[in-house]
Amino acid sequence: MRNRLMSVAAALLATCALAGVAALPARGADNPPLRDLANAQGRYYGTAVTASKLTGAYGDVAGTQFDSVTPGNEMKWGSVEPARGSFNWAGADQVVAFAAAHGQKVRGHTLVWHSQLPSWVSSGTWSAEQLRTLMTDHIATEVGRYQGRIDHWDVVNEPFNEDGTRRQSLFQTTLGDGYIADALRAARAADPAAKLYVNDYNTDGTGAKSDAMYRLVSSLRAQGVPIDGVGFQAHLILGQVPSTLQANLRRFADLGLDVALTELDIRMPLPATAAQLAQQKEEYRAVTAACVAVTRCRGVTVWGFTDADSWIPDVFPGQGAATPYDENLRPKPAYDGIVQALGGTVPVPTTSCAVTYTVPNQWTGGFTANVVVKNTGTTPVNGWTVGWSWPAGQRVTQAWSTTLTQSGSQVTAANASYNGSLPAGGSASFGFNATWTGTNTAPAAFTLNGAACAP
Ligand code: XIL
Repeated sequence: MRNRLMSVAAALLATCALAGVAALPARGADNPPLRDLANAQGRYYGTAVTASKLTGAYGDVAGTQFDSVTPGNEMKWGSVEPARGSFNWAGADQVVAFAAAHGQKVRGHTLVWHSQLPSWVSSGTWSAEQLRTLMTDHIATEVGRYQGRIDHWDVVNEPFNEDGTRRQSLFQTTLGDGYIADALRAARAADPAAKLYVNDYNTDGTGAKSDAMYRLVSSLRAQGVPIDGVGFQAHLILGQVPSTLQANLRRFADLGLDVALTELDIRMPLPATAAQLAQQKEEYRAVTAACVAVTRCRGVTVWGFTDADSWIPDVFPGQGAATPYDENLRPKPAYDGIVQALGGTVPVPTTSCAVTYTVPNQWTGGFTANVVVKNTGTTPVNGWTVGWSWPAGQRVTQAWSTTLTQSGSQVTAANASYNGSLPAGGSASFGFNATWTGTNTAPAAFTLNGAACAP
């Protein structure tokens, strides 16, 4: 008998739709919204909103995903009383009505703050008595108007400097330390049911400023001043989330006060890279998880839910991408991080593949095969294994451009160090020599990263 050299080429194309749900448009629509996930944890999930945008897709996301809203600007003194005695409640009313229509809480923001004051207040000359009356009248008017409709009021905003001394605001310099207690008492009188907060930034982790807030609220409690909670703005920087966040929330909660993250965003240099967005996802997850871990943390509010409505690019030039939705209202990885922290599950990103298996050379007892794996999906694949089962006892003897292992009829080919990344539309090739007896039937199906490909 003569061995006859055979040249047989077997080609098989398997297109496989990997398990998973379409990543972008369906996400957030097919899954429980953040508000439902948060409620299951006894928390709320809120967002700052811009009243004039609360229609269309922006309004849909704001109304369905969140169960608390904070007017980004519309309740500030400069917005509601631009000229003395002349009020503009349109924007604030709109937000409160939107919240009522969508079963949402409202965070009133903010009554006494050094910034965004009307110029008639900030550039006026006031005696202590005059300014105290102006301040308490302002509180009585605004809190009174919305009495029974506001769940939480940021009564005093940003009273501290970074070193923990009092910020030398108009109120501090004219009225002295006692203005905070006076403001809280006026708010309590105007709406006894609203939870009253003092709110600040860079108090999220422990440190001089947070310690100053801790001493303030401890002393307010000791004096019987009406205060219910402390707001931590949480305007955070990618890579700099304070490691003491959860412990800090807990020490305030241990005073018998509620705590809340009131203005969460996590900014980064632009343009955002995939790696930065992946890190941001982990940081949104960790920050949300810190609130879930502290019993008296009532909820989290993001300062704008979309990058299209974030204050960051205006105030920190060159930075942005700080919110959980991109500028086109598509959920970002950060959204998934929040979902995970709230006990939800995140869909496996959609991908799909095509595997081509060819045998360019076959002889008695042996053959050579080439395999091309192509990522035909829209999501990059970073690191791959291609798997198959051999029907006729074939055994690999040597492989290249892959690390190939065989166990019985099961073969797993993993990427080499240099061909592991498959961008959308990208492919990688590898090959091997193997033995065969009887028939050299090609594999019927393939897997990519463990997920079955349909034949
Ligand atoms: C910001 C708004 O988002 C901007 O639109 C506005 O121009 C400036 O104020 N801390 C606060 C918020 O308490 O009121 C601020 O909101 C962001 C920082």
